[in-house]
Amino acid sequence: MTIRRIVVTGGAGFIGSAVVRRLVAEGYEVTNIDKLTYSGNLASLRDVEGAANYRYHQADIVDQAAIGRILADARPDAIMHLAAETHVDRSIDGPAEFLETNVVGTFRLLQSALRYWRTLDKAAADRFRFHHISTDEVFGALGFDHEQFTEQTRYDPSSPYSASKASADHFVRAWNRTYGLPVVLSNCSNNYGPYHFPEKLIPLTILNALEEQELPVYGRGENVRDWLHVEDHARALELIVTRGAVGESYNVGGRCERSNLSVVQTICDALDARRPRADGSYRDLISFVSDRPGHDLRYAIDCSKIERDLDWTPTMSFEDGIKGTVDWFLENEWWWRPIREQGYAGQRLGAA
Ligand code: NAD
Ligand code: DAU
Repeated sequence: MTIRRIVVTGGAGFIGSAVVRRLVAEGYEVTNIDKLTYSGNLASLRDVEGAANYRYHQADIVDQAAIGRILADARPDAIMHLAAETHVDRSIDGPAEFLETNVVGTFRLLQSALRYWRTLDKAAADRFRFHHISTDEVFGALGFDHEQFTEQTRYDPSSPYSASKASADHFVRAWNRTYGLPVVLSNCSNNYGPYHFPEKLIPLTILNALEEQELPVYGRGENVRDWLHVEDHARALELIVTRGAVGESYNVGGRCERSNLSVVQTICDALDARRPRADGSYRDLISFVSDRPGHDLRYAIDCSKIERDLDWTPTMSFEDGIKGTVDWFLENEWWWRPIREQGYAGQRLGAA
């Protein structure tokens, strides 16, 4: 018996929409639950909105009554939980929403899942998975040595965002150990790719550059992130929810460490090749600005467990992935123009 019916929370977001597009294309019965916060966007799901194996419900994961009704109707074999407040800078400016959705929301979703799971017969209950999609930021900062985060690394979050995700991870594990809910977790590094909300470094840099605005680099641009293309992540998540072992967590990363300055320079070079400025390089727009408070120096994922146990490996090189992402933003102004004009225009967040 395999997993066929999947509820995805946060499926109108950046990674959630990549997961939904993938699962629908693979033939799963997909039910998307999304509140549509500022970062949720049904336009990211145009490719699947008419598909017979896709359903959408606008709902808040905090609302147990609504979620309970959706689960009873969808009868999922698995819940992939991606709904969250996700931007570190916004968590510095206003942490309350991060506790409400990421901590309380995850707790309430666990309660809804547990109640639903207890209605299942033995075969269906054994098959069921609650998959929490989490972040490498729960582990805190690495130094500039060769150390990497493993599944055994101690939690040490630095930001309100990462503290809320760490808390959610603990609740998910507790619901397995205390109530027997079959859970699986994954902690992933920085994603990039199409449909990325333009508050995050890569899409913000692309759109600011296209509008001839400054490209803000925090501090000296030496902080390092481990970059993974979102479609590689979506493929990993499908493997984890269908084949991951109950109670286990899997680190997912791109084996692709880059300093922030080199990421911004790579984007500038791709834009110089695709849409040259009238005068000079996009690199001339780079501007070093005050650092993010509590800025973790370096993240790096050891993903050997998922490579070994689930036969997954990142396939997209960073250079190709960035060129493809730059091209996508050049070709899909219909998607980002309304966000820049009516949602978020690119101003500095989280300077505290
Ligand atoms: P995103 O901000 O693009 O999308 C989040 C989605 O969740 C949005 O569609 C939003 O409307 C929805 N949502 C928010 N609060 C909700 C609520 N209370 N009820 C229902 N829906 C709600 O985020 P993303 O970058 O796609 O991240 C998705 C998940 O992956 C998050 O859990 C995040 O912590 C995790 N993650 C992200 C990255 C990354 O690089 N972006 C890396 C590792 C893990
Ligand atoms: O590591 C996984 C995490 O990656 C996810 O859990 C988060 O949801 C996701 O937002 C992302 O967090 P980061 O804080 O790493 O992403 P962000 O794009 O905000 O920043 C990437 C790096 O670039 C970080 O070191 C801060 C820096 N930065 C960011 C912005 C927005 C800049 O230098 N300038 C900027 O304007």
